[in-house]
Amino acid sequence: MTDQMQQESSQPLKDLAGHGLDWPALFATRAERMKASEIRELLKLLDQPDVISFAGGIPDPALFPADAFSAALTSALTGDTKGAALQYSVSEGYRPLRDWLVTRMASLGVDCTADNIMITSGSQQALDYLGKLFLSPGDTALVGWPTYLGALQAFNAYEPGYDRLTPLGNRSAEDYRETAQAKGGKVKVAYASADFANPTGETLAESARERILDLATELDIAVIEDAAYQSLRYDGAEIPPLLALDIARNGGIENTRTIYCGSFSKTLAPGLRVGWVCAAKPVITKLVLMKQAADLHSATLNQMAIHTVASNGFDQQVAKIKATYQARRDAMLAALARHMPEGVTWTRPDGGMFVWVTLPEGFDGAALLAESLKTERVAFVPGKAFFADGSGANTIRLSFSCASEAMIEEGIMRLGRVVRGG
Ligand SMILES: Cc1ncc(COP(=O)(O)O)c(C=O)c1O
Repeated sequence: MTDQMQQESSQPLKDLAGHGLDWPALFATRAERMKASEIRELLKLLDQPDVISFAGGIPDPALFPADAFSAALTSALTGDTKGAALQYSVSEGYRPLRDWLVTRMASLGVDCTADNIMITSGSQQALDYLGKLFLSPGDTALVGWPTYLGALQAFNAYEPGYDRLTPLGNRSAEDYRETAQAKGGKVKVAYASADFANPTGETLAESARERILDLATELDIAVIEDAAYQSLRYDGAEIPPLLALDIARNGGIENTRTIYCGSFSKTLAPGLRVGWVCAAKPVITKLVLMKQAADLHSATLNQMAIHTVASNGFDQQVAKIKATYQARRDAMLAALARHMPEGVTWTRPDGGMFVWVTLPEGFDGAALLAESLKTERVAFVPGKAFFADGSGANTIRLSFSCASEAMIEEGIMRLGRVVRGG
């Protein structure tokens, strides 16, 4: 904020002092758990030119297929489609895009029809709707420790409790059930990002995916599969999504309990806000009713543009961005090995955008960030916010998606200096 802006915005506040309503007293109880996200605050730092930022987990804008979008938008607005492009539309989503997704899901081992797919405004909207659909106050959501902060934010509005999903741990279904009862509700969903999770970058082995499905079956709960990064694999063989494994066990999508949330944000463009849910029809039917109530439908023009760009070259676009991100991931892993002192460990992601760093006990990621910004102008996300129980103070998340290899080397070298000093 510039000084001038500060002056302009503080003036009316001064005038209102003493006359404001007690807004928190009016807000519903669910609003108490809506807190500003550390990540959103940090995104502001990306604008400062001298900061090397590993903070925002966002795609590199230089890689957006802007020309392809420009042509697709022009064509949607000039051809026979221009009326439809600007008109209200159905809540399920633009049919040609849903048909394209049926083929895409088939390539992942998910046999479904367009009736199993609803388009959402980004996969974030799907997480909100699923929280609304499944979680009554006091119910339990099983999540990773750590997990995607945006999932916690989406679910928090529905006032659940959380318990730790440990796919390879030996906790029994009965143990989960009793813990949920003690919190005043039932276990309702397990949320998992199987490929290149945010924030750890880790991928669940097929056995871990099977274990989640076993546990979900024993508990008779839904599985929310967050596949936001699934297309961004740099190493190793693809592992079937949870939904594909669920179909293989149960003979068809209508018999499954897994709800797959996909997104075009990490592959094509996040600003258009287009994602999708793929699940059994009873779930889609309810989600469509929710969408009608919430925003009627996602922007038709955006769905049309995504459909055209995806149909004309989704695989080529993904191959292009993967080559860039893979080189950046390699640069970050090499720089960490060169510059981090003994006692610091990190993940080695096979894809996605993140490396998760664990510092020795006693370190505090938030304090380290303050120091790092002050002395070395390097930004990252302190890990604590990703833990539903507030633990993980000695962890940090680094994103390699937006920095050049040279910036990664320089930034990690500087970060190494901060950690040594800490
Ligand atoms: C794991 C995960 N899920 C979902 C989202 C939401 O993405 P979008 O709403 O743009 O699809 C993100 C965004 O960063 C994410 O990291």
